[in-house]
Amino acid sequence: MYLSFFNLTEMPFSLTPNTQFYCALEPHNEALKVLLSALSMSEGFIKVTGEVGTGKTLICRKLINHLEDNYVVVYLPNPYLTPDELRWAVAAELGLELAPEQDQQTLSQSIEKRLLTLSQEGKKVVMIVDEAQCFSWEALEALRLLTNLETEQKKLLQVVLFGQPELDTKLANPQVRQLRQRIGFSYQLRPMTAAEVDYYINHRLRRAGAQSPLFSPRLNHHIARACRGIPRLVNTVCHKALLLAYGEGQTALNKRYIRAAIADTEDCYAPTSMRRWWLFAVLSATVLGVAAIWLWRQVL
Ligand SMILES: Nc1ncnc2c1ncn2[C@@H]1O[C@H](COP(=O)(O)OP(=O)(O)O)[C@@H](O)[C@H]1O
Ligand SMILES: [Mg+2]
Repeated sequence: MYLSFFNLTEMPFSLTPNTQFYCALEPHNEALKVLLSALSMSEGFIKVTGEVGTGKTLICRKLINHLEDNYVVVYLPNPYLTPDELRWAVAAELGLELAPEQDQQTLSQSIEKRLLTLSQEGKKVVMIVDEAQCFSWEALEALRLLTNLETEQKKLLQVVLFGQPELDTKLANPQVRQLRQRIGFSYQLRPMTAAEVDYYINHRLRRAGAQSPLFSPRLNHHIARACRGIPRLVNTVCHKALLLAYGEGQTALNKRYIRAAIADTEDCYAPTSMRRWWLFAVLSATVLGVAAIWLWRQVL
């Protein structure tokens, strides 16, 4: 596409949460720090929430890469599971090869046995769930029961939940108060500040082989505002702006491309159209005010 045109070696704004493009920003770094220290303290449940597109899946992957060899990871990227499916998924991730006709009780016992063996071998098992807001009440309860398994000294299973803000709403429900009370550490990912967006865009471009910044600080500021600091929206807008410039054979990006990319991206806040609405509202209020005064004078 536009790679050779802009002298890039890779797509700079792909939507895939690729850890090679990880940009060490304060919220993401802090989230990782909280996760790693909570895991080292053997906390039962740890939770990370953030709006759509703020970088949860990327942190999930970074965390998995960071964990040392003594960790066994049970990764659940898709929590649309019944309690039975959840236990089967955990068994599969733990490397258990069981006959499909296995009843649920035997399945639970096999999982417990495997967790005990791993613990005796000095391994720590951590279950990492992405999109945890999608868990059903029944699956959440099955998850809690799995984490009941412990020896006299320690838990056999730690759980990290990543989810959208709806996860907090779900966990506020009295139905899951037992699980909620077990959450030892939480972290809420915030969107990027304007300065972070500027750094983020340049970092991704450099990582993709750019020799010089393609977007000026002013354009980055404009993008930051329109995207409310959400990394996924920033990626989409930057990619579209590069496409538009490429389409017109321009290597220098300008505000026209950014505006068009923003207007074409759902969920972006378009400052110009908002300004138009404000202008319309102010003008209407003035006209109405003048009309009211005129009427008042006529009556008097
Ligand atoms: N710190 C970061 N460094 C580099 N890319 C990031 C960072 N945070 C988010 N992104 C990028 O933003 C996009 C959305 O991130 P993702 O993890 O899919 O969000 P979420 O899971 O919260 O919806 C991905 O392309 C991801 O690579
Ligand atoms: Mg995600």
